[in-house]
Formats: sequence, structure tokens, C-alpha cells
Amino acid sequence: THKVILDLDTGIDDAMAIAYAVAAPNVDLIGIVSSYGNVLTPLSAQNSLKILELLGQTDVPVFLGESHSSTTDHFDVMPISAQIHGKNGIGEVSLPVAKRQPETKSGVDFLIESAHTYKQDLIVVPTGPLTNLAQALKRSPEIQDEIGNVTLMGGALTVPGNVSPVAEANINQDPQAADEVFESRLNLTMVGLDVTLRTLLTKNETTQWRQLGTAAGEKFADIVDYYIDVYKITSPHLHGCALHDPLAVGVALDPSLVTTLDLNMFVDTTREMWGRTIGDPARLTDPHPNVSVALTVDQKTYLNRFMTYLSNLFAK
Ligand code: BDR
Ligand code: CA
Repeated sequence: THKVILDLDTGIDDAMAIAYAVAAPNVDLIGIVSSYGNVLTPLSAQNSLKILELLGQTDVPVFLGESHSSTTDHFDVMPISAQIHGKNGIGEVSLPVAKRQPETKSGVDFLIESAHTYKQDLIVVPTGPLTNLAQALKRSPEIQDEIGNVTLMGGALTVPGNVSPVAEANINQDPQAADEVFESRLNLTMVGLDVTLRTLLTKNETTQWRQLGTAAGEKFADIVDYYIDVYKITSPHLHGCALHDPLAVGVALDPSLVTTLDLNMFVDTTREMWGRTIGDPARLTDPHPNVSVALTVDQKTYLNRFMTYLSNLFAK
């Protein structure tokens, strides 16, 4: 069984990442750390709590992480996020107020303590900015040799960015933190736009959830339909919405879903190239690459698995 921590800026696809982690076999979801991005950190935490409750998972603790980047002054939510995920982060769908509150322990402390406790058994999946993980590394550098694997959703290598010609949204929020994570000794897999833009969901699938006749199926269909409608306008060439964040969870649990290129990467923090994830030309022959970058994905296997997991979960 994998011990899994999700670090989320919940967000529509973050919500699907929660569902995937809950539904997947052999996963012990030990906690969710909250980040800012699609929404501010406190709202991200409330959204995670609400989604967990909708899925009947009231034992999974939710922690508050950092509220903004510590290294840049970009701490306002990018206005673009409200357009994509709705002002409330979950497609303007209203869910019952959560009965639980976030834990009093901080998300960064939880990351550090979990690394000490579970060591190589621990998988961390960040699907927002990398601020919390960078902070944890700064406070307790030994965790980079303890954590089994970090599979993050973020970055782009072979395609342009989605918030600028070079930057993907999560990296763009805190490129300095991302660079610190990349330059650490963490065992790192990058699930970026290269692969997430190839796994798309349409209303054919959300209709199946709706037809289950359960609260979870109906609410998830409403939330994801909002996202699909946004994609129709912002990315009409795609024919569906990208399953960014749940794909990171999928790859974390089963790396064989993607092919990867091992590369020494860095994150550009210069003004012109802000947030670009790119190979370091000075280290092309370095025998110890720091990131495994997902380049292709077995769409069919992944999408089948995604639908099987989520439909079974929502049917309960
Ligand atoms: C990423 O940005 C966020 O809006 C999504 O939740 C995803 O994590 C995609 O670039
Ligand atoms: Ca996200």
C-alpha cells in the first residue's frame, strides 16, 4: 500500500485527483495539504473537505499550506483561474458546508513529519504551486532523501505553456520554489502539459456519472461540465477538458502509464522566460538527471482506468 499525500489548490481537476486517489486500490491517502492557485489556500482547504465529505471520506485530514509564494510578489490568484474553475474553484457548484475544519498542524509540518515516518513508502503528489514542498525542503533538507517519490503536475517541455508562451500555471505561480524542488535530490517525476493535454474528458463521460443517480455522480458531473464548457471556449481544438491533476495521481501510482525522458532540468526565473521548465544545456551529459519528464501517455489505458475508478466510487 502506498502512503499518499496530495498537495492541492482545489480546483476542478484537483477535485478529480482526490476522487482518483480515493478510488484507486492500494492507496492510503494519509492527508491533503492545501495550496493557493486556482483559489486561495483557505478556500482550497474548504473545497477539499467538501469533496471528501461528498465521497464519504471523513477520515482524511486536510492541512493548510502556504498562502502565497515566499519568493515572488505574485501572491494574488491569477485572474485567469476564476474563469477556468469558477470563483469558488468548483465550477460555481454549491456543496454542503463541510462539517470538519482543517487541522491545526500546518501542511508543511505534516509533509516533514510524514517523510520522517513513512520514508520511501511515501508518495507526494503536488498539483498546485510547489511552495509547500520547497518550504518543507528548506526547513528539513533530509526529507529529500526520505520521500519515495514526488510526482507533480506542472511544467511543459515539448509544448507551450498555458498561462504564457513558456509557463504552465502551477510553475508560473512560484518558479523559484519549483526550481528548488527540481534542484533537490528528490526522486521527481514531472507530469506536465506534454501529457495532460492528451488525456481529455467529454460530456459523454460526465453523463455516465449523472446517470448513476447518486449525489457524488451528479455533483461531479455538474462541476466537470463547467470545466468542459470553459475548454470549449479557451481550447476549442482539444475536444474535452484536460485531466491534468488526476493524471499525476495515476502516474504516481503506476509509472508505466507514461514514457519518460530523464533530464537535468531547471526552472527559469528570468523575466522573459518566467516559469519555463527546460533542460540545462550545461548538464546534458551529467549522468545524474534530476527529473523524469513524462513525454507520452497510454491514453486508452488511463482513461479506461479513470472512468472505472470514478464511476465505481460515485455509484456507492
Ligand atoms: C494546472 O493549473 C491548474 O489550474 C490546474 O488545477 C492544474 O493543476 C494546469 O496547468
Ligand atoms: Ca491544480
